[in-house]
Amino acid sequence: MTTDLGPARPILYFRGHAKNRLRLHVLLISHGPTPPGDIVVADGTHAPALIYEFEGLSFWRYEFDLPAGAPGYRFEGDDYAVVTELAGDLRLAFVSCNGKEHGDLDREPAERNAMWARLCEEHETAPFALLLQGGDQIYADEVTDGHPLTDKWPDDLEAVPRPDDLADLKRHLERGFIARYVKVVRAPDAARLYAEVPTLSIWDDHDICDGWGSLPEEVADGPVGAVLFEVARRMFLLFQLGLVESDIAAHLPDPTGANLGWRHRLPGVTLVAPDLRSQRRRDRIMGAEGWRLVTGTDPQGDHTIVVSSVPLLGPRLSLIERLLVMIPQMQKYEDDLRDQWQSHVHRDEWRRMLGEMKRLRASGAVTVVSGEIHLATRAEMRASEGTIHQLVASGITHPPPGGAYASALGLLASFGEAPLPDSPIVLLPLPGHRRRYVAERNFLTLSRRDGRWQSQWHLEQSGPTAPMDL
Ligand SMILES: [Fe+2]
Repeated sequence: MTTDLGPARPILYFRGHAKNRLRLHVLLISHGPTPPGDIVVADGTHAPALIYEFEGLSFWRYEFDLPAGAPGYRFEGDDYAVVTELAGDLRLAFVSCNGKEHGDLDREPAERNAMWARLCEEHETAPFALLLQGGDQIYADEVTDGHPLTDKWPDDLEAVPRPDDLADLKRHLERGFIARYVKVVRAPDAARLYAEVPTLSIWDDHDICDGWGSLPEEVADGPVGAVLFEVARRMFLLFQLGLVESDIAAHLPDPTGANLGWRHRLPGVTLVAPDLRSQRRRDRIMGAEGWRLVTGTDPQGDHTIVVSSVPLLGPRLSLIERLLVMIPQMQKYEDDLRDQWQSHVHRDEWRRMLGEMKRLRASGAVTVVSGEIHLATRAEMRASEGTIHQLVASGITHPPPGGAYASALGLLASFGEAPLPDSPIVLLPLPGHRRRYVAERNFLTLSRRDGRWQSQWHLEQSGPTAPMDL
C-alpha cells in the first residue's frame, strides 16, 4: 500500500497503572520489513515486535512501563515527555468526532485541525496525563465507495456475493480504513499529542459506518455487513487500542471480545467505557458482556469517569421519534434516533444504565463524558445518591450543525425528562453561556487539583469556559 507515512511518529497507548508504574504500549507504522529503532527509557531498552502487516505496511509494538516521576521515553533521537506522576494533581483531555462524513481527507489541514492545535497549546501549558477519545475517531463513511459490492451501501446489497468478491472487498475496505487512520494520527498537532499522551479510546458508529447497529438487520447481518464490521473492528483494535485479536483476553475485560469496552484504575479515579457499538441491535444497546463491564465496576470511593460514546442524559427525544414513525420519508431520522439511549425501544436498558450510575454515585462522584452530537452541552441527573454530571464535547474537527438545530434541541430540552421517577434529568448551559447547546467545535479538559475535580470546555469561537466543579 502506498501511503505517505512521513517521519516516524510513535502512538502511545495507556495500558494500565499499578504499583506506581504506568504501563504503556507504543505503535509504530513503517514501510517494509526493517524494524524501527529501540525505545529507550531510564531503566532499559525495548525492541519492537511486529504485530500486524498489510500490503507492505508493518505495524510494530513496544511494551514498557514507566515509574512515577520518570520523564518519558526516547525514540530515534527524540525525547517524548510523558506524565507519569498520577497520584496527585492530574489533567485529562477528552475529544470526540474527529472527522466528517464526506471529504474529510481533502480538507485544508490548518482549518481541519485548528482545535487539535489548541489542545496542543493546552498540553504545553500543563501536560495531560491521558487523552480520552469518545467515539468517531475516524469517519469511515466513504470506505464503502469504489467497490461494486458496497458502492450503494447500505442499499441494494447482494444477498449471496461470490467469495472472491468478498475477499476483494475486504482488502478494499482495509485500504480505506488505513488511509483514514494514518491521516488522522499523522495530523501534526494531533500526532504530537498521540506521541506524548497515552490514549484510551472507545468507538462509535462512524468508526464503522453511519448508524452501525441501528441499521436494518438484513444489512448488518448480511455477508457484506459482516465483512465491513470485521474490518472496522480489526482496524479499531489496531489503531485505537494498539491491539490485535490475540491480545484481547490479556488486555480487555471481556476475554471473548464480544464487547471491546475497558476499565482502568488510576489513584483515586476509575475510568470505564462500555462499548456501545459491537453488540448493538435495533432493539438492544449491549449484550451480557457489555453489561458485565458496567455492573462489575466497583469504584470503592473513587471518582468514576464513565465514557458513554452516545450521551446518556438528554432531552425527551422519544417525543419526536413517535412523530417520525408516522411519516414514511423520515426513516433515516428514525434510525438516527434509534441510535440514542433515549429511543423508546431502548428505554429499559436506559433505565438500567441510569440505575447503575446511581449505584456508582453512592460510593463517589460520577462524571459521564460523551460526544456524538457535534455540540457542547451538559446535563445533571439529580439522584438521591447525589448529582451525576454529564459533559458533552463534540467534535474536535467535525463542523457544528446550524444554530437552528441547537435551538430546536434546546427547546426540546426545556421539557426535562425523568426516566427514573426519583431522579430528574436537567440539561443546562455551559458556565457563562445562556443556551443549553453551543454549536462550535470543541474539546473538554478535566483536572484534579488538591483533590478537587473541575471541567472546562474549549470552544472554537467563544474560547474556554470558566471551570466547573464536579
Ligand atoms: Fe460524530
